[in-house]
Amino acid sequence: MSEFGFSSTADDVLEGRDLSGKRVFVTGGYSGLGKETARAMASKGAEVVIAGRDEEKLAEVRAELERETGGRIETILCDLASLQSVRDCAAEARERFDLIDLLINNAGVMACPKDRTADGFERQFGTNHVGHFLLTNLLVPLLEKGDRPRIVNLSSRGHHIDEVHFDDPHFEDRDYDPWLSYGQSKTANVLFTVGLEERLKDRGIHAYAVHPGGIHTNLGRHMTEEDMARLSKRIAASAAEDGKKPEGFKTIPQGAATTCYAATASELEGRGGLYLENSHVAEVDDESRTEGVRSYAVDRDKANRLWAMSEEMTGERFSY
Ligand SMILES: NC(=O)c1ccc[n+]([C@@H]2O[C@H](COP(=O)([O-])OP(=O)(O)OC[C@H]3O[C@@H](n4cnc5c(N)ncnc54)[C@H](OP(=O)(O)O)[C@@H]3O)[C@@H](O)[C@H]2O)c1
Repeated sequence: MSEFGFSSTADDVLEGRDLSGKRVFVTGGYSGLGKETARAMASKGAEVVIAGRDEEKLAEVRAELERETGGRIETILCDLASLQSVRDCAAEARERFDLIDLLINNAGVMACPKDRTADGFERQFGTNHVGHFLLTNLLVPLLEKGDRPRIVNLSSRGHHIDEVHFDDPHFEDRDYDPWLSYGQSKTANVLFTVGLEERLKDRGIHAYAVHPGGIHTNLGRHMTEEDMARLSKRIAASAAEDGKKPEGFKTIPQGAATTCYAATASELEGRGGLYLENSHVAEVDDESRTEGVRSYAVDRDKANRLWAMSEEMTGERFSY
């Protein structure tokens, strides 16, 4: 049981830790939760590689974080909505870096209008899951050289909305719904965590999925004010159904806490394949609207099915 909770910040969780000598790779590291995770870890001495798709933003945030933390920040281009860009990024990473200790798969898009990635995947599934599936597997050789390496996948309580539709992940035979799509992609993040743990635990690499909380960031860029009001109502109704008060939003430093906890907590040593919220391991729960991980998101058969489907989509096999 951890001593941290809803209000803990990334700095609280990392208090007293020395991350010098660690290399942390953060996707979507120039904004929102990724940037705060990068800042907090660099402040504790880690070298942080921020991956992003916009060269100017990368340079700007690199300078800002180096100034603020006095740490070493590296940048690398990676558009998760393009398998070619992911392959180029991984190849460059393998040339520039000898190892990675912590991989934080943080980048994501939420509830965007129907769109496709460069490879024709539905954008949320393609970016949030397929891009990270390929990147992670291509970085495993570097993770294997890390010290007690961990992979943290940013999922969401949004995974309660829906499971993965293996028969139609790209909304070809059903009407597109931005929230069902987000829910599917965030369930995929948890199933991928289970699949990674199963395959990599004997190599000393452990994987964790995280719900960071509800935080105002750029993630809401596709939402109108009406969407936001509807979401707030839905959150309030869910809490009422569970007989609770609505949890409320977290600040960005609070939102990055569970990621930092999953990446560093010593009580998680040697065990992964877990879903965490509020810096705690969550229970499997198919009823609660306000907490827990759905059983369909931690189902080993579904995790294996997703692995095989993702290999087919990327055209590469990753057997360990
Ligand atoms: N905020 C919340 O309430 C909340 C709740 C639950 C889960 N989460 C999860 O937390 C993670 C971080 O989200 P956030 O709230 O910090 O949102 P954010 O500020 O919008 O950050 C998301 C990051 O992902 C990047 N990204 C999007 N598409 C990309 C692509 N094709 N290739 C590479 N990078 C891409 C964005 O870069 P660009 O600026 O270039 O687009 C941005 O840096 C997401 O996975 C999200 O699902 C957030």
